[in-house]
Amino acid sequence: MENNRKNRRDFIKEMSLIASSTAFLSSIPWLNAFAGENGKNVAASDRVRLGIIGVGSRGRALLLNLQEVNNVDIVAVCDNYEPNYQRAIKLTNGKANAYYDYRKMLDKEKLDGVVIATPLHEHAHITIDSLNAGLHVFCEKSMARTLEDCKRMADTHKATGKILQIGHQRLFNPVYLNALERVKAGEIGQITQVRAYWHRNNDWRRPVPSPELERKINWRLYKEYSAGLMTELASHQLQVANWFIDKVPTRVMGSGSNSYWKHGREVYDQVALVYDYDNGTRCIYDSLTSNKHYGLEEQIMGDKGTIEPEVNRIYSESIPKAPGIRQLVNNIEKGVFDVIPIGGASWVPETAVEYKGEMIAEYANNDTFLQMVGFVKAVKVGKPYKNLFREGFHSSIGVLLGLQAMDNNEIVSWPEKYILEKEV
Ligand SMILES: NC(=O)c1ccc[n+]([C@@H]2O[C@H](COP(=O)([O-])OP(=O)(O)OC[C@H]3O[C@@H](n4cnc5c(N)ncnc54)[C@H](O)[C@@H]3O)[C@@H](O)[C@H]2O)c1
Repeated sequence: MENNRKNRRDFIKEMSLIASSTAFLSSIPWLNAFAGENGKNVAASDRVRLGIIGVGSRGRALLLNLQEVNNVDIVAVCDNYEPNYQRAIKLTNGKANAYYDYRKMLDKEKLDGVVIATPLHEHAHITIDSLNAGLHVFCEKSMARTLEDCKRMADTHKATGKILQIGHQRLFNPVYLNALERVKAGEIGQITQVRAYWHRNNDWRRPVPSPELERKINWRLYKEYSAGLMTELASHQLQVANWFIDKVPTRVMGSGSNSYWKHGREVYDQVALVYDYDNGTRCIYDSLTSNKHYGLEEQIMGDKGTIEPEVNRIYSESIPKAPGIRQLVNNIEKGVFDVIPIGGASWVPETAVEYKGEMIAEYANNDTFLQMVGFVKAVKVGKPYKNLFREGFHSSIGVLLGLQAMDNNEIVSWPEKYILEKEV
């Protein structure tokens, strides 16, 4: 366990060295946006003072990453579950003040910002209270359990002018960023479809030390706290689809069911949806919990090529021809010579080509660290990155509209009030 933690720390450290090099940082457009403002520090001190609220599985990962970001002090931690409260104290070597109640933490500490990694239904009120207390906020995805709460968070972010960054780490991932540049340069032509999926073979159930903790620990399985696969997994991939298509969907339809896990879960164990965009493009999405063979991917398909950022590949539609001898072998294997009609075929048998595409970009595989670097930088400068919040907002709205479509068996149009215009 201790060894694992050390390895993880070494890995994060190594990544942070690569990631803090000037060349690397300048390749990330969000960070680049403040290039002229390096050194201007509107935070309370030279160092950024942060509190972390919710130090469970994800909160712990964010904390470990933040400990490797320059000029950050984690001065307070908060968790209302005793084992995680104690663990948070240990993780910060007792240097952070610990709280069970975030309101006390907001009252007592002089913070520049907070990082929120509580279950979904606890995001909105903690975010809104923190923004109103004058703090910058990093809140894990998805934004909130209800559409109204997402909107209230957006409105408070706007009214206070404080940063509200939502935890979509792919926005800071060098492979995704490079892929997007290549799309903008026309390498895969016009995107006509994004096909995305996230398949797992597990039920999300965590062991519970005593029955009254069931809902606290297994919050993902209950509708009151979670929209299941939509908010937990689809939110990341809808963000990617919207980002690459560079549009907000106009409508969504879908179907969800409980087909496999019979253990009292309330949220769907599989979902399938179609998101339409106004130019005829779609995002076709599905998520499963009973088969992991295909894993996860966003297949971004254009008329000139395809991008699969999760596996770091780009493929051209102009596939290099297989060598003649290979074609001959394939044709013999397929019995082509027996069936080609005299006078020429109206069809040409496909020839198997072992075409694995190309790598998109070098992969410094810690986008979570990079998004923490990004958040700290924004806090130092004292203002949000243009259009970054918009990504999280549209993803959060989109997955909840998708849930509505499945729950009510209807085609749901995207209401105007849930569209944020692009900042220029
Ligand atoms: N970006 C990603 O890749 C990613 C990955 C995993 C989880 N997440 C997100 O992170 C969030 C947390 O997920 P998790 O798996 O860490 O959950 P978790 O259950 O492991 O941890 C949540 C923690 O929050 C604490 N908590 C609950 N209510 C609180 C309150 N009012 N005040 C203080 N602490 C409170 C709980 O006691 C627990 O320790 C979710 O929104 C999830 O979607 C994001």
